[in-house]
Amino acid sequence: MIFAALSLLCLVAGSHSAPLTCEELVRPLDRLNLHHLKGKWALVAGSLSHPPFLERFKQRDSASVNFYSNTSETHISYTRSISLHNECQYHTYNITLNGSSYTFDGTENDNFSANFAHTSCHDCMLMHMRMESGERQHFYLFSRRRQLEQKEMEEFRAQVECLNMPPPAVMDPTKALCPEETASDPAAQPEEKTEGQK
Ligand SMILES: *[C@@H]1O[C@H](CO)[C@@H](O)[C@H](O)[C@H]1NC(C)=O
Ligand SMILES: *[C@@H]1O[C@H](CO)[C@@H](O)[C@H](O)[C@H]1NC(C)=O
Ligand SMILES: *[C@@H]1O[C@H](CO)[C@@H](O)[C@H](O)[C@H]1NC(C)=O
Ligand SMILES: *[C@@H]1O[C@H](CO)[C@@H](O)[C@H](O)[C@H]1NC(C)=O
Repeated sequence: MIFAALSLLCLVAGSHSAPLTCEELVRPLDRLNLHHLKGKWALVAGSLSHPPFLERFKQRDSASVNFYSNTSETHISYTRSISLHNECQYHTYNITLNGSSYTFDGTENDNFSANFAHTSCHDCMLMHMRMESGERQHFYLFSRRRQLEQKEMEEFRAQVECLNMPPPAVMDPTKALCPEETASDPAAQPEEKTEGQK
């Protein structure tokens, strides 16, 4: 009660530098810009609420998503690439958009919800997925850059904290991203593979 009153006070009296409340920090994107979404995004950091999944997530060398320029406003697709043990794994997803929320096609499940979330980083994209009625959450930060400013990472860490999720795993920006998937080379290897590694 006192806390609520205090944060209300902060909101009223606060300047732009006042710390944001969790509700403000972790909010869906006001308006999804499909044009902005198009193309390749590097995974910068992520948190997963289920510890074994987070451990597995940390083993990735790199990951990226590539949104296609589908003509539909509501039905779009993206390919996720993961570089793990020097091999690239690809998976394409069809999603249906409703504002900044989305669902994966063919998986009608009341327990799943997902949305693109707000971030103050201008060339970033945040994906927030909730399974089992919010018991299990995934929160992924992507950017056109491989590495973000400290301030941008602080915002992400604060968002993760608001969601009561474990501290995020930060990807190694020096590890190559997978090349675009080509039909002739489904098991492509990461570009600029470091010498001597197999
Ligand atoms: C979107 O475009 C990609 C690439 O052209 C295509 O593979 C995919 O099937 C399209 N998705 C939909 C829902 O039309
Ligand atoms: C995605 O949608 C396209 C177009 O409707 C379809 O051809 C394709 O098979 C779908 N892919 C998956 C993985 O569901
Ligand atoms: C889109 O989301 C709104 C608000 O959550 C909901 O009322 C509406 O039914 C949804 N539309 C579809 C097509 O699912
Ligand atoms: C939704 O999640 C609850 C709690 O984890 C589970 O008991 C239930 O079976 C799930 N329902 C579906 C449709 O998956």
